[in-house]
Amino acid sequence: MTVTNTTDTKKDSGVYPPSPQFAATANTDAAIYEKAWSDRLAFWAEQADRLQWDKPYGQVLDWDTEEFVANWFVDGKLNVAVNCVDRHVAAGNGDRVAIHWEGEPGDSRSITYAQLLADVSRAANYFTELGLSAGDRVAIYMPMVPEAIVTMLACARLGLMHSVVFAGFSSAALRARIDDASAKLVVTTDGQYRRGQAAPLKGAVDEALGGETPNETVDHVLVVRRCGIDVDWTDGRDLWWDETVVAASPEHAPAAFDSEQPLFVLYTSGTTGKPKGIVHTSGGYLTQTAYTHHYVFDHKPGKDVYWCTADIGWVTGHSYIVYGPLANGATQVVYEGTPNSPNEHRHFEIIEKYGVSIYYTAPTLVRTFMKWGRAIPDAHDLSSIRLLGSVGEPINPEAWRWFREVLGRGEVPIVDTWWQTETGAIMIAPLPGVTAAKPGAAMTPLPGISANIVDDEANPVPRGGAEASGYLVLDQPWPSMLRGIWGDMERYRETYWSRYADRGWYFAGDGARYDADGDLWVLGRVDDVMNVSGHRISTAEVESALVGHTAVAEAAVVGAADETTGQGIVAFVILKSGASGGDDVVAELKAEVAREISPIAKPREVKIVPELPKTRSGKIMRRLLRDIAEGRELGDTSTLVDPKVFDAIKG
Ligand code: WTA
Repeated sequence: MTVTNTTDTKKDSGVYPPSPQFAATANTDAAIYEKAWSDRLAFWAEQADRLQWDKPYGQVLDWDTEEFVANWFVDGKLNVAVNCVDRHVAAGNGDRVAIHWEGEPGDSRSITYAQLLADVSRAANYFTELGLSAGDRVAIYMPMVPEAIVTMLACARLGLMHSVVFAGFSSAALRARIDDASAKLVVTTDGQYRRGQAAPLKGAVDEALGGETPNETVDHVLVVRRCGIDVDWTDGRDLWWDETVVAASPEHAPAAFDSEQPLFVLYTSGTTGKPKGIVHTSGGYLTQTAYTHHYVFDHKPGKDVYWCTADIGWVTGHSYIVYGPLANGATQVVYEGTPNSPNEHRHFEIIEKYGVSIYYTAPTLVRTFMKWGRAIPDAHDLSSIRLLGSVGEPINPEAWRWFREVLGRGEVPIVDTWWQTETGAIMIAPLPGVTAAKPGAAMTPLPGISANIVDDEANPVPRGGAEASGYLVLDQPWPSMLRGIWGDMERYRETYWSRYADRGWYFAGDGARYDADGDLWVLGRVDDVMNVSGHRISTAEVESALVGHTAVAEAAVVGAADETTGQGIVAFVILKSGASGGDDVVAELKAEVAREISPIAKPREVKIVPELPKTRSGKIMRRLLRDIAEGRELGDTSTLVDPKVFDAIKG
């Protein structure tokens, strides 16, 4: 098998057992594993009972092994927003801060649960007034402002599905997502702050909805005034948030929805150019996000100040900014901007200002902090931190140690959490205060989760040794699992369930291995999905953006190891005859990808080449291109039509 991401897992990276002090007050102990194993479904039922159900569920799980669609907490009814907001107010915690929001230019707002309830109710009332009803889709294209979270919760309250589109995506990417889900409402802002500048955002929505064939599903565009910049206006379609939602009643009577009521669709990259709309539902998703947030982060409501640095445009923001923490009544920091606005001290100032105790981020940011140097964090009092978390890609042991040493005083637990948009919640991670951690290892499936590493023939791989790597599979259904790909159940079954169809195992698309102790190390994607700064980007998506340019005849894209971003995108491009291959065209092609998809998908390098290496059956040999991109000796070229191609490419 080929593993596209290289983590240095060979070095002895050490074992870090939990400290007795942490263990003494941890939310759980080792018995939780046995309990989960002795009766997995009873264990999940116990986790579901953390939620408030309007109608109790009957059966815990109904698992369709033909269609691979799960029904968790059958016939139960609940309201997700009530669970995230109302019930904390009802329990007397209305004055607790839900969100310490920190704007990029330095403005800030602290929003209590009682205020959040009023805001969510206003939005729910206004969305109802707009004629939206349960099952309708709402696209959210917003920076990290509180109204984005309010909109998500208002959708949940009404049984509407939200489709959050990262505000860094292009208007073309937004249009594709709006069309695929037939969204009726788009919620956006006039602009967004990026490194001190107000950049327009609403204009991208106008562009997305217009064009040669104007969109026909969107009735309204609701605009939050964030930057106070001028926007074009379409009367009848466009509405200002502060003239509508803000004026609506702060009281709203919630309905109860089925446990399987769709909650959201979130698009993620797959192996083809077309992103997949991953569908999640209510009861199981909320159960597992709340459960994992409680145990993996050892979260203590009313005491901890929690900060997940993700953007709500990604699944980490959905599960660990919105649903998990709010279901648990957390007090959290939400930050609008980039870590270096106005300078590299920003995150550490925020940690100091709010006394952040749990800090959950991505390896790429840890490596960026390393590059900036430890003098920056050392200039701040970070003593409030008691737990660190990592997500998005394998964390290299060096970054892991630095993270613990510099942000965690060499003593706090680090939880390296493996999961995916599709899994909805954390699946594999150490339990702080309970299990040991090893730098670079996701360690152990959580209680209630069953994973395995197998070869092509479904045989489990052995522990330890050189041949121990294989494919990561999830061999039992879990509550927050995806329920499908929006509008394409065939692709859903094909992508995730066809590889081990007769066993009913979910194929994660990641390579993994067990070390000699039986601890699990995730190695990276085994498909054509790249991981750049923790963002999933498919090679096909970038290739199709490149070939969309008039000068390009053919393009092949690979993810090459990158010191900071994990992988960087390297494109090999054949120009059409007559097109010239200077610096201009390289810059132009990079800009084209940023325009078509997003700046996050911009290639690090574009190599203009005369030919691409292909097998006799015409398949591009990406493995060889990766070797070139990473400056390695070429691997096996025996199946190549014309090995001389390489001299031309390298030259
Ligand atoms: C990778 C993000 C190793 C993996 C939550 C997975 C990781 C993909 C880890 C999902 C980790 C995420 N260790 N690899 N702790 N966390 N990945 O859908 O390749 O954006 O398949 O979800 O990121 O990315 P996604």
